[in-house]
Amino acid sequence: MGPRGERTPPSRRDLLRWAAYGAGVAPIAAMLASCTDARTGAPAATAAGMDSSPGPTAGATTSPPTSTHPSPPTSTRPSSTSTISPSTTELTPTTTSVDRTRPWWLQGNFAPVVDEVETDALTVRGAIPPELAGMYVRNGSNPSNADSPHWFFGDGMVHGIRLEGGRATAYRNRYVRTTMYEAGAGFGQGAPGGASNQSNVSCIWHAGRLLTSGEVGLPYELDPLDLSTRGPFDFGGGLGTAFTAHPKIDPATGHMHFFGYGFTPPFLTYHIADEHGALVHSEVVDTPRSTMIHDFAITETDAVFWDLPVTFDLDAAIAYIADPASGAFPYSWNPEAGSRVGVLPLAGGAASIRWFDLDPCYVFHGVNAFRRGDEVVADVCRLSSMFAPGELFGGTPTHRRWTLNTATGAVSDDIIAEHDPGDLPSRDPRRLGREHRYGYLVSARENPHTVDLGGLIKHDYTDDSREVWDPGPFRHAGEWLFVPTGTDLADDAGYLLTYVHDESTGVSELVIIDATDVASGPVASVALPQRVPYGFHAAWIPA
Ligand SMILES: [Fe+2]
Repeated sequence: MGPRGERTPPSRRDLLRWAAYGAGVAPIAAMLASCTDARTGAPAATAAGMDSSPGPTAGATTSPPTSTHPSPPTSTRPSSTSTISPSTTELTPTTTSVDRTRPWWLQGNFAPVVDEVETDALTVRGAIPPELAGMYVRNGSNPSNADSPHWFFGDGMVHGIRLEGGRATAYRNRYVRTTMYEAGAGFGQGAPGGASNQSNVSCIWHAGRLLTSGEVGLPYELDPLDLSTRGPFDFGGGLGTAFTAHPKIDPATGHMHFFGYGFTPPFLTYHIADEHGALVHSEVVDTPRSTMIHDFAITETDAVFWDLPVTFDLDAAIAYIADPASGAFPYSWNPEAGSRVGVLPLAGGAASIRWFDLDPCYVFHGVNAFRRGDEVVADVCRLSSMFAPGELFGGTPTHRRWTLNTATGAVSDDIIAEHDPGDLPSRDPRRLGREHRYGYLVSARENPHTVDLGGLIKHDYTDDSREVWDPGPFRHAGEWLFVPTGTDLADDAGYLLTYVHDESTGVSELVIIDATDVASGPVASVALPQRVPYGFHAAWIPA
C-alpha cells in the first residue's frame, strides 16, 4: 500500500492474502448474519446461530429433560433483588426494518461511529454490583471511511467502560490503530497478514496484556488503561502464524493455548504461551487441507480441534477478490472432505492426535469442553452446513454435545437444543476446560434482511433446560461476557455483561445481569454517551 488513498496493483500473493482475510473473517458473518446483500443482490442468507423456521418463541424457562449429563454443584448464591425490566415469557418478534437499497451493515446501529469519545459523565439505572471492579472492553468492525464491502471488513474499534465501587467511572472508544487503519487501507486495499490486518474480532486479557485479534494476522497490543494502540504483538518475534480470535486460557496454569490457521502449509499450528505471556510451544498439527477454523476447545489435559469441510479454493479466492459480486467465494462446502474432531495432549504432541469422524457439519463456536475419564465432552453451536450451494451462509443450527471416547474411538453427537439454540457462547472462565453446569448464549430473532440478535439464553447442561431474558422488541444484545465474582465457585456466581442498543431511542447501554437470576433482567444498566455499533467479542480487565 502506498501513501494514504493511493492504490498499487495487487500481486498474486496479495490476492491470496486478501482471500485468506475474507475467509478468516467470514466465520463471524456466518455466525451472525442473515441477510440479503444489498450490493450484490445475493439471496437471503440463513444464519448460523439463527433459527430459519418461524417456530414458537422460547419461554423464560423451558425444560426438555432429555439429557443424562452428570450434575455439577448447584449454585447457592442468592438471587438479586434489584431489577429493572423483568423478562417476558415470549421472545418478541423483530421490529427492525432495513433499507434494502443499501448494505444493512452501513445503516442503523451497524453503521460506524465517527468520534472517539472519553467521558466520566455516565447515567446509571439500578445498582452496579460493587464487586465488579475492572473494565469491560468489546471489539467490533467500524470502517473509518464509513464504507466497507461487508460488516466484518471494517477497522477494529474497542469500546470500554470502567466499573469500580458500584459506579461507572469512565467510558471511551478507540480505533485499533493497525497498519491498515493508519494507511487508510480499507478491505481490498492492502494485504492482510502479519501486522496488516484490521484486528476487529476479539479482545483478550492475558498475562497483564490486552490484545485484540482479527484472526488472520498478528494480534495488536493495547494500553489497558486508555485503550491506545501499542502496536502489533508477535511474542518477541516467536509467532510466525496468524492468531485465532478465540485463544483459551487454562484457569489452573494461566497458560494461553491458541492456534493459527492458513490456506498454505502449515494449515494449522498449535501454540502455548505461559502464564507470563512467553511463547513456549509451537507445533504443526498435520491436516491435509486448508479448512476454516474459527474456534477450538481445551480440557484439563487435551486440546480439541474441529477440522470441518469448509475448504479453501484458490481459484475461487482469486475470482472473489477480482470481483466480489461474481458469486465466487474463497471457501466452499465440501462434505466429501469429511468432518472430524482431533484430540491431542494439551502440552503438545500432535503426532499422537486422535481423530473422530462426524457427520458433515460446521461449527464456529464451542461453549466449553472437559474430560470425563476416557471421554472428552464438548458442547458446541453446530450448523448442518456452511456455504453450501443455494445458501450464502450456514444451514440449520443446533446446540450439540459431542462425546469422544479416546480409549475406544466411539463418538456421539447429541442434540441438546434445537429451537433458537443461540450462538456467541460464553461460560465461567474458571470452568474453562472443566465440567460446566451453565453456558450463556445470545438469542436471535427472525429477520431475513439483517442480523437481529435478541437477548440471553442460560443453558443448564444438567437437564438441558433454559432460562431466557428477552430485552424487548427494540433492544438488541450481543455476546454475553461472564465475569465471576466472590468466592462461590458455582458457574453462575457472577454477572453477564454486554452492550444493548435500543433502536427506538438510539441509546446504547452497558447491561449487567446477575447470572443466578437471568429471567429478572438487568440489575443495572449504564447509558453511554454515544451509540455503540453492534460488534463481536469482549474481555474483562480486572482492576
Ligand atoms: Fe467468534
